[in-house]
Amino acid sequence: MAIFPIRTFGDPVLRTPAKPVEEIDDKIRTLIEDMIETMYDAPGVGLAAPQIGVSLRIAVFDANDGLGARAMINPVLVETAGEWEFEEGCLSVPGYWWNIKRPAYAKIEALNEDGEEVVYEGEELMGRVLQHEYQHLEGTLIIDQLPRRERKKVLKELSEQALGL
Ligand code: NI
Repeated sequence: MAIFPIRTFGDPVLRTPAKPVEEIDDKIRTLIEDMIETMYDAPGVGLAAPQIGVSLRIAVFDANDGLGARAMINPVLVETAGEWEFEEGCLSVPGYWWNIKRPAYAKIEALNEDGEEVVYEGEELMGRVLQHEYQHLEGTLIIDQLPRRERKKVLKELSEQALGL
């Protein structure tokens, strides 16, 4: 098991749509174990493979529902419903939290680490985590959910930080 450094805003891997996993083998299972360890170490409730520099459609999450960490491979977001505003952050944009409105409910179909078809669904925190991690695999970031003015302000701050200003 290993803990990986988490890529932060400005790293192009976070903006690249991830590639589907073609074969779920021991290498993928080891990657998932490492992602879970990295997520808990951060600590966070979800982590997508691009966040550790691996551009594959894999994410892990633990929505504090007592079921522990689970993995989604090649997930498809099949349904969202409702609306819920909640404070949300991202390990790749450290130090920022925003009240963000998203659908309250989300349903994802995916494969797990054993190659079995799984369905993950839920409202509130579960729905939020599923949508957030799914978007990482599309190359979308939490910043894209912000109103335009707020997004501009944050992008300016983040690029100044990257330049060391
Ligand atoms: Ni994130």
